Amino acid sequence: MKDQIDNLIQQSKKHTITTKEELENFRLKFLVKKGLVNELFQEFKSLVGEEKKIWGKEVNIAKQKIEAIFNEAQLKLSTDDSSILEEQDLPGYFSNLGSRHPISFVVDEMSLIFERLGFSVATGPEVEDDWHNFSALNFPYNHPARDMQDTFFVGEDIALRTHTSSVQVRLMEKGELPIRSIMPGRVYRNEAISARSNCFFHQVEGLYIDKGVSFSDLKQTLYNFVQEFFGANTRVRFRASYFPFTEPSAEMDIYLGIETESDARLTKGTGWLEILGCGMVDPNVLENCNIDSKEYSGFAFGLGVDRIAMLKYGVKDLRTFFNSDKRFLDQFVNL
Ligand code: PHE
Repeated sequence: MKDQIDNLIQQSKKHTITTKEELENFRLKFLVKKGLVNELFQEFKSLVGEEKKIWGKEVNIAKQKIEAIFNEAQLKLSTDDSSILEEQDLPGYFSNLGSRHPISFVVDEMSLIFERLGFSVATGPEVEDDWHNFSALNFPYNHPARDMQDTFFVGEDIALRTHTSSVQVRLMEKGELPIRSIMPGRVYRNEAISARSNCFFHQVEGLYIDKGVSFSDLKQTLYNFVQEFFGANTRVRFRASYFPFTEPSAEMDIYLGIETESDARLTKGTGWLEILGCGMVDPNVLENCNIDSKEYSGFAFGLGVDRIAMLKYGVKDLRTFFNSDKRFLDQFVNL
C-alpha cells in the first residue's frame, strides 16, 4: 500500500500544469470518480483489520495533497488569465484634481490687489435681516429705493442678502475704527435669468472709514485697482449715480472699445462697461452704526465679479459658470 500511495503522489507532482487543458487532464486523471485517487480508495477498502487503520490516514493525506496541487494550479491559472488580468488591471480612475472655479479665481485676484492696498477681508451671512441689508443702509421701510434690488424673502424681514453692503454694516457696528476692508461674497436678486443676468451673482465690496477720507481717496483707490487688474493704460470714467447709502454716488466704467464683436455686445455698442458702484458713505449710515459722522467719513464701492469674469475669459453666457458642466470647468484647471 505504501508504494502505491508514494507512487501516486510522485505521479501527481510530476505534472506540470500551465494551461487550462493540462489542469483538466490532471483532474480527469486523478480526481474524477474513475480517477487514480478513487482507485486507491477502492484498494484501501479491501484492506482489513489493523492494516485498514494504518493506511486510512495515509490515503486521506495523499488525496488532500493531490487536491491541493489541483487547487493551487487552478488558482494560479485563474489569476494568470489575461482576460481577468485586464479586468484587475483597470486603467485606473483618474481622480482629477479639482481646481478653483473661475469666479473664485477672479475674487482672489481682486482681493490680492486690495490686500496690497491695506484692505483686510471680511465676510458675513448670506441670509440677512432687514436691518443689515436695508434699513441701516438708509433704505427706509416701504421706500421705492428697495425696488432697486428685487429681493428673495425667506421670512418676515429676513431675506437672502441683495448685496454684501450688509457686511459693511456689521463691520461698522463692531465699532473698531478705522475700517479698511473688502467684502467678497455671493448675493441674490430676484431677476429674470438670462445670458447676462442671474438670480445670484458675486460682489467684492469695499469700505474705508477713517478721519478725513475724501472722494479723491476713493477715486485713487479705484484707479489703482483698475490699473492693476485691467492693465496700466485702461481708461475709466465716473458717472454720477444714486445709492441710498452713499452721497455723492457714482458708477465707474472702463473702456473696452467696440472693435471686437464681444466688446461691442458687452458694452451695448458704447465701448464702456460698468464695473462698479461707489460713493461716500452717507452720514445717516454712519450714525445708524454709531459712528460719529462729524469725526469720521468714508467711502464704499461694490464691484460685480461675474461680468468681469465673463470679460476676462470671453464667456458669452453667464449661466455657464454655474451649471457645473465639467467640460466648461476643465478649461480652468490651470488657473
Ligand atoms: N451695494 C451696491 C449694489 O449692490 C453697490 C455699491 C456698494 C454701491 C458700495 C456704492 C457703494 O448695487
